[in-house]
Amino acid sequence: AHFTPSEAPLKGKRIVITSGPTHEAIDPVRYIANRSSGRQGHAIAAAAAQAGADVTLVSGPVSIPDPKGVKVVRVESAREMQAAVEQSLPCDVAIMAAAVADWRVASDAAKKIKKDGSGKVPALQFVENPDILAGVGNHTRLRPRLVIGFAAETHDLIENAQGKLKRKGADWIVANDVSPENNVMGGTENTVRIVTADGVEDWPKMGKEAVAEQLVARIANRLSQD
Ligand code: CTP
Ligand code: CA
Repeated sequence: AHFTPSEAPLKGKRIVITSGPTHEAIDPVRYIANRSSGRQGHAIAAAAAQAGADVTLVSGPVSIPDPKGVKVVRVESAREMQAAVEQSLPCDVAIMAAAVADWRVASDAAKKIKKDGSGKVPALQFVENPDILAGVGNHTRLRPRLVIGFAAETHDLIENAQGKLKRKGADWIVANDVSPENNVMGGTENTVRIVTADGVEDWPKMGKEAVAEQLVARIANRLSQD
């Protein structure tokens, strides 16, 4: 969709978007990551900018180019992503599309962990990362008007998405089935279901750019009703 400035549906709206994976250090040369490419979150940032929004994209490490017309804040870990999101508030809409690592190593080693020659393996201890979406959705002072999360599931998609909607204080959850046969993580297409307090909307399988454009249209429509 192309908009002339005067008809840009998100003109004057501030939108904060997270995208990509996070990397959690084990030691100076090793980390824990996941298969997220950042394609869906980056496509949403591009579509929102195209619709006239003032977009801040907080991105984990990705290999795709920065979207045009967007302020990009690069981070590595979940804690860095959380701090960057907090600094980007207040905003009108928050869209948390990142695949945030759920756990990090309790204390990452300052020096590279070495084999000691005995065949003994290191035991990694994990702690849970902060939930960035829940922090924004349940924010006491600066909660955006519209908070949108994603739910990556391999089973019980709707039930799990509804649980996340409530627990994280989100208005909408974009639920996607990330079972390996669907090739969503890292792929170019997505089949999503929009879960809100009012019910579930099923969208057909489409490219991640098309999902982004539809989502931006739904956001513009929602904001025009306030
Ligand atoms: N999310 C987040 N911070 C985290 C974990 C998740 O902001 N530490 C956000 C994601 O960006 C997404 C939503 O929460 O918008 C759901 O992420 P998901 O991984 O599906 O849910 P989790 O709550 O982590 O639960 P689980 O992975 O166990 O299904
Ligand atoms: Ca998770």
